[in-house]
Amino acid sequence: MHRILAKQTLSPNVTRLDVHAPRIAQIRQAGQFVIVHLSENAERIPLTVADSNSETGTITLVIQAVGKSTNELVALNVGDFIRDVAGPLGHPTEMIERGHALCIGGGVGTAVVHPIAQGLKQRGVQVTSVIGGRSKEWVIFEKELERYGKVVVCTDDGSYGRKGFVTDAAREILAAGKVEIVYAVGPVPMMRAVANLTRGLGVRTIVSLNPVMIDGTGMCGGCRVSLGSETKFACVDGPEFDGHLVNFDELQDRLSTYREFEQRSIACANGTCRMEKAAAANA
Ligand code: NAD
Ligand code: FES
Repeated sequence: MHRILAKQTLSPNVTRLDVHAPRIAQIRQAGQFVIVHLSENAERIPLTVADSNSETGTITLVIQAVGKSTNELVALNVGDFIRDVAGPLGHPTEMIERGHALCIGGGVGTAVVHPIAQGLKQRGVQVTSVIGGRSKEWVIFEKELERYGKVVVCTDDGSYGRKGFVTDAAREILAAGKVEIVYAVGPVPMMRAVANLTRGLGVRTIVSLNPVMIDGTGMCGGCRVSLGSETKFACVDGPEFDGHLVNFDELQDRLSTYREFEQRSIACANGTCRMEKAAAANA
């Protein structure tokens, strides 16, 4: 059992939980994730470890409440317990040891970029971060990333920082040259746009993929992704991959496969599911 020691709302549907998990806090590396299992019959939720503190034995999880299970997770409060936190899972981030890295975070993906920027800074790499949100209230982890280097904030509506997508700011930074590597995490269209931008410039680009995961052990095939002609499993081969090789169309398709089921599951949890109402009426 893992006690929740702190809770913070970061944006309208994004919550930070600091969870007691001392072994994971001690050994986790940038890019790795955990699978959270709220209770016995609950869905398993993969979450990147956004930060950790080995002294307090806590790991930081950042959750976007989009479905039934993530809504249940963010409904927990300080002092509540999570049944299982399995990890750390996945390969640590491929780091450069010197030079200049550009870290790009879109929306909740900014929390995933945070440990990468942290790890790069610890190695002495110059870090520039470009982070974005729909508007000011959706921008997260700005202060945390400022510890590691310059941060450029973008909002789609111009309500904070510069107006536009993260790719607009990234394009200008890349045009100035001297960026050895780009790390990009966020919505699939964003990661695809970043990869398209850097491909022509020949700048190595690492993206963190978030396909549907079930077991997290490479057995179920749920997290299958295609890289060129190769098939990989994000849970055991990733979750970070060469962005220039990822088949983003397939990833987007596979991510939308269960959308209808997810909507139905939310409706049932809210008591607005038509099938459930009919069953109750017939009972
Ligand atoms: P969002 O849709 O609000 O977009 C955030 C920012 O990304 C925008 O402000 C913009 O700067 C940029 N962006 C979006 N579309 C773009 C495009 N077509 N071209 C260039 N830039 C674009 O983000 P959100 O609602 O926070 O959603 C985050 C997404 O990230 C979710 O779909 C979630 O599944 C995914 N995610 C991925 C990971 C991962 O490891 N890859 C982790 C967490 C979340
Ligand atoms: Fe099952 Fe990756 S989650 S193979």
